[in-house]
Amino acid sequence: MRRSVSGFPLTRKVVERFVAGESVEDARAAIERLRDAGLAVTVDHLGEETRDAGAAKATAQAYITLLDAMRPLGLGRGGEVSVKLSAVGQALDDAMALDHARAICAAADANGSTVTLDMEDHTTVDSTLSILRELRADYPATGVAIQAYLFRSEADCRDLSAEGSRVRLVKGAYREPASVAHQGKAAVDKAYVRCLRILMAGKGYPMLATHDDRLISITELLADRFGRSIGDYEYQMLYGIRTDRQEALAGAGHTVRVYIPYGDDWYGYFMRRLAERPANVAFFLRALGGK
Ligand code: FDA
Repeated sequence: MRRSVSGFPLTRKVVERFVAGESVEDARAAIERLRDAGLAVTVDHLGEETRDAGAAKATAQAYITLLDAMRPLGLGRGGEVSVKLSAVGQALDDAMALDHARAICAAADANGSTVTLDMEDHTTVDSTLSILRELRADYPATGVAIQAYLFRSEADCRDLSAEGSRVRLVKGAYREPASVAHQGKAAVDKAYVRCLRILMAGKGYPMLATHDDRLISITELLADRFGRSIGDYEYQMLYGIRTDRQEALAGAGHTVRVYIPYGDDWYGYFMRRLAERPANVAFFLRALGGK
């Protein structure tokens, strides 16, 4: 599958719908384009779990290079990077992942940007939250993604909001067992609303990462109920998905942050986007067939 996707120019085009490109230059061009359209950004250097210390270090360095490249253009200020701890050594050693994440936070801080930790499969949540707390001691603006589908997430939202953390609320993108996670769209959507209510009522900064119109409407109702104005929370969406909605929300005055993935290790990210929506698989298969 990976070979067939990589090999054909037409399927590369499909990948490019979701991924900004492979180089720092590609990322920079996408950042500039989105910022010109009034959108904020969070940039992800694509990569999945590694058990190779050299690869973990190279990923951390790639973030630092990106953040340095953003600085002279003033693109760093108000910007953000998203980091998967598994790509900077979490599977090998928490201390290694913390060191690399700390170096990325320092580079981000130097140009007025922040860092949000992505959340991966459920076995990594305790480690990710404990690394988050270490990072927030020095860089309090560091945030984390919380996946509404996990049973534990309401309690995590409560704790993080009491601590005043930035929290990106997502539905969750991994296949998780029924022993730890709600199954099916209706149950996950209800869990999202319960977490949303906790975050909107709490002390932290909620970042609502969804393309779901119903959840966006509920967010607006809760913002009203809990006295949060525009600017006290933000919306986030993925690069290439519902761009019309991104621009409409930004046009109405909201902060809308677009998650921009770039880099050559796009396979896992791309497959998760296909899995989310049958229509994307059809789009992909048509491209494979040359139509
Ligand atoms: P849902 O999947 O119900 O989609 C609602 C509507 O949005 C669909 O009907 C469709 O119109 C559109 N849509 C959604 N996905 C689409 C797609 N792939 N292609 C085309 N249209 C699509 N997950 C995780 O586990 N850990 C993380 O750290 C993150 N980080 C993250 C950051 C940001 C900024 C976003 C927006 C999302 C994530 N996610 C994530 C992914 C998240 O868990 C979830 O899988 C996707 O956002 C899809 O869920 P929705 O809330 O959009 O709803």
